[in-house]
Amino acid sequence: MRVLLTGGAGYIGSHTLVELLSRGYEVCVIDNLVNSYQESLKRVRALTKKEFDFYLIDICDEKALSQVFEAFNPEIVIHFAGLKSVKESVNEPLKHYINNVSGSLNLLKVMDDYSCSKIVFSSSATVYGDPDYLPIDEDHKLSPKNPYGHSKLMVEGILRDWSCEYKQSCILRYFNPIGAHESGVIGECSNDIPNNLLPFIENVVSGHEKHLKVFGGDYDTPDGTGIRDYIHVVDLAKSHVDAIKSFESIGSFEVFNVGTGKGHSVLEVLESYSEVIETDIPYIFENRREGDVTESVANPSKIKAMFSWEAKLTLLDAVKSSRNWKLKNPNGFKESAE
Ligand code: NAD
Ligand code: WQD
Repeated sequence: MRVLLTGGAGYIGSHTLVELLSRGYEVCVIDNLVNSYQESLKRVRALTKKEFDFYLIDICDEKALSQVFEAFNPEIVIHFAGLKSVKESVNEPLKHYINNVSGSLNLLKVMDDYSCSKIVFSSSATVYGDPDYLPIDEDHKLSPKNPYGHSKLMVEGILRDWSCEYKQSCILRYFNPIGAHESGVIGECSNDIPNNLLPFIENVVSGHEKHLKVFGGDYDTPDGTGIRDYIHVVDLAKSHVDAIKSFESIGSFEVFNVGTGKGHSVLEVLESYSEVIETDIPYIFENRREGDVTESVANPSKIKAMFSWEAKLTLLDAVKSSRNWKLKNPNGFKESAE
């Protein structure tokens, strides 16, 4: 089966690429490398000993996209390409809407032109906003709190309208992806300043920052810090394989939460990291970060029932793998790319 990955050089895309190649799928990657490095693809080739084509193009470039469809003729698209910095989306909303929404429209148009009728879309738990109840199921109300979240929900809406008897969309709403491949050869490496918890902890561990700023110690949670559903990126990557295997048995438009169903607080994540490095990590409490929710935990029953997928790896596995990746690649892919 021929699978096209948009944004396949990025964090989740590169881990999914490994899973697909190792199962014998014929894969093609497109990416404009705005937040990734071609080195990740080189590493995937070395790790899997499998070949695939890569096109350095932007999904907003219809002509270039058409040429890729002409050459590869994909049967399924897994659409990871998108800008993901919440902070940047607040400061530059149009940039996000153009990239994430117009880019997706463009992709769908070219898919139509080439009769490619199946798409898996990377959405986010951020579309739920402040949860009314926990754990969050797919029927929970949708109320994103920033342009990034709105852009994801807009694309979900477009896909709902696009889908029909002969066109299928599978929406995966990821919770909080962390961790790296067990080999330590691929992992998360953003071009921009980190926004997420794990990269911040790693900045402290590497000595680039004095302490972790814990955003809020006064939440209504057992230890006062925010709770999230941290999902190992390898488990997450595998959910894409299950998704593309399951198109036969799902409807034209289906939404799935991809999470573990277990919540961990900021202090628990910090403790896990300390356990791995056998050293205490300094932290201070700061004010709550604007836009943060108290708790976000998935109800992953639907994906378990329909794809037989469930998260197998623990928070500790994820933290260990993240540490391994950082130890082997203190600057991510940056040095290798120079
Ligand atoms: P990432 O930034 O590592 O990967 C996204 C990739 O898309 C990058 O390689 C980037 O260069 C590429 N890209 C961006 N715009 C493009 C364009 N116009 N044309 C071609 N390529 C483009 O991010 P990720 O963490 O791997 O996330 C993958 C997807 O999952 C994104 O859509 C993101 O919004 C979504 N998501 C991520 C998280 C998370 O916390 N990492 C959570 C929920 C959803
Ligand atoms: C996790 C917890 C913070 C940094 C974001 C996006 C979301 C999705 C996943 C793409 C929270 C706390 C963090 C720090 C801290 N991405 N924290 N100190 O905010 O749940 O979700 O990434 O779709 O859209 O919003 O993840 O990793 O930023 O934060 O105390 O220096 O860690 O307050 O409780 P978040 P995160």
